[in-house]
Amino acid sequence: MLMQILKDVAVVSGISTLLAVVLIIAQKYLSDYGICKINLNKKRDVSVEGGSSLLNSLAEEQIFLPSACGGRGSCGTCKCKVNSGGGPLLPTEKPFLSKTELADNVRLACQVKVKSDMEINVPESIFNIRRFQAKVHEIIDYTYDIKGITLKLVSPDTIDFQAGQFVQIESQAYAKIKQKVVRAYSISSKPQDNDRIQLIIRLVPEGICTTWIHKYLEEGSDVTFTGPYGDFYIRDTEADIIFVAGGSGKAPMKSMLEDLQVKGTTRKMTYFFGARTAKDLYLTDEMRSFEQVFSDFKYEPVLSKPAPEDKWKGKTGFVMPYFQDAIRDPKNTEAYLCGSPGMINAVKKSLIAMGVPDDKIYYDSFG
Ligand SMILES: Cc1cc2nc3c(=O)[nH]c(=O)nc-3n(C[C@H](O)[C@H](O)[C@H](O)COP(=O)(O)OP(=O)(O)OC[C@H]3O[C@@H](n4cnc5c(N)ncnc54)[C@H](O)[C@@H]3O)c2cc1C
Ligand code: FES
Repeated sequence: MLMQILKDVAVVSGISTLLAVVLIIAQKYLSDYGICKINLNKKRDVSVEGGSSLLNSLAEEQIFLPSACGGRGSCGTCKCKVNSGGGPLLPTEKPFLSKTELADNVRLACQVKVKSDMEINVPESIFNIRRFQAKVHEIIDYTYDIKGITLKLVSPDTIDFQAGQFVQIESQAYAKIKQKVVRAYSISSKPQDNDRIQLIIRLVPEGICTTWIHKYLEEGSDVTFTGPYGDFYIRDTEADIIFVAGGSGKAPMKSMLEDLQVKGTTRKMTYFFGARTAKDLYLTDEMRSFEQVFSDFKYEPVLSKPAPEDKWKGKTGFVMPYFQDAIRDPKNTEAYLCGSPGMINAVKKSLIAMGVPDDKIYYDSFG
């Protein structure tokens, strides 16, 4: 009886091993796509090893599409037009693509695998995106969970960006985290200081990149990032402006205000900053000081749940009820929003209900 059981176990193990070997061989040969040619904008060809995502294959060639979620298929920023060779659309792509985009062969580059020659179209602006080597120059504790990190550029040693744009930091392995990840962070310093960038980063509990930044980076540490990315920048008009930010969403607003100061704007501007308690407020004096700089600017911090010890006498609750007093002509108002997706959706809805045109509401969602 025991012999029979041992024999059966040996047969099953043998079959399993054989199947595993067949699978490995099949995978090696079936997924050996060889060298594939990617034609970009009918102007330029790059040759890549098949088998990786289109996003990573282009990055290997120093062509960087935005990828705010690091290629996890959750941000929808890596869109490009795939005219041929992209294979069938995946269910993971559909939620991010409008009907027009679907008809136009727009795909998510992180989901498309390079298996054959391809013809794609990418925005010309991405050819200006570079990979930068930098060193941590300064770390400031703004709150218990928010740090300001200044990176001094090493190579290239300057960066051209528009106030409001973001970069993508590449984290390194640390402790038990073996994987390197890519995450998006808005630049909080002004474009005129082009030999460095400042970032404002909130520690996310268990977050891979923010734990590395908060706990492992120190002055002098090496940091690699790509950028600049994004179309969240101040439109060159005379319209009134409403800024709304929460948490580390203050980063692009700081860059925008410092840039507007250099440019000497006279536009009417109100900046609502939403926080939970007084210990979540930071850079308050710096933001208030803009009231002396600009001819018509107001900084309005709003606490949703002030603690008794805060002795808070300012605005409380949601930011939305306070918009009424700040918006004099909704049709001639631009809104710039930055923070969590929940906050952005709620604020957007409220602004549209007040008559602010949908196409004048610009935002970067940190989701
Ligand atoms: C355009 C843009 C600009 C941004 N700018 C800023 C900025 O200026 N400042 C800033 O602080 N942030 C910014 N962000 C957010 C930032 O990119 C990161 O998403 C954020 O810092 C979290 O990264 P992380 O690697 O630390 O966390 P992640 O590791 O991505 O984790 C995020 C959360 O998911 C959970 N999680 C992780 N892995 C798993 C898993 N396998 N299963 C279940 N849960 C999991 C974690 O516990 C954590 O709660 C921006 C985002 C975008 C899109
Ligand atoms: S990189 Fe985020 S969806 Fe592709």
